[in-house]
Amino acid sequence: MTDEMLALARENQRKAGVENVEFLKGEIEQIPLPDNSVDVIISNCVINLSADKDRVTREAFRVLKPGGRFAVSDVVVRGEVPADVRRNVELWVGCIAGAMEEAEYVRKLARAGFIEISMEPTRVYNVEDAREFLTTKGVDVDAIAPGVDGKFMSAFVRARKA
Ligand SMILES: C[S@@+](CC[C@H](N)C(=O)[O-])C[C@H]1O[C@@H](n2cnc3c(N)ncnc32)[C@H](O)[C@@H]1O
Repeated sequence: MTDEMLALARENQRKAGVENVEFLKGEIEQIPLPDNSVDVIISNCVINLSADKDRVTREAFRVLKPGGRFAVSDVVVRGEVPADVRRNVELWVGCIAGAMEEAEYVRKLARAGFIEISMEPTRVYNVEDAREFLTTKGVDVDAIAPGVDGKFMSAFVRARKA
């Protein structure tokens, strides 16, 4: 959400001749849209980067119309992951840094007021996915394997505002 990103998006829009799209500059903690104005919120790999996820879920709820849907893809952590494992896996996938634990994610959405919350894994990572990369970074992959296997996933997170 920098000015350069917006300029590029608008340039691509112009080249493609698309007229039913509008780009707004804003942050997900403070969405520049009125209450009850949005049908669907989509996003890929952004919420995990926010430092204030309670605010993000509250904002999502605020801008959605009644019956509106939250339908995002995000990186999610399953269960407890030791801090050193998290740090090592971060080397491999930058987006792990702020990823929420799945039950915590569901709790935050529920606290914001959402209903019909679901989490559908689209890819669950195992240590073999990261072995080659982490080995080149000097990480003892076998030592951290139990803390990595099945603990990180890409997921489709869905919820609805009643
Ligand atoms: C991992 S990229 C994902 C980009 C795109 N959704 C995709 O799938 O290729 C994360 C994007 O989120 C944006 N971003 C990070 N924090 C944000 C925030 N608090 N509010 C709005 N956008 C944010 C970054 O500028 C970056 O473009």
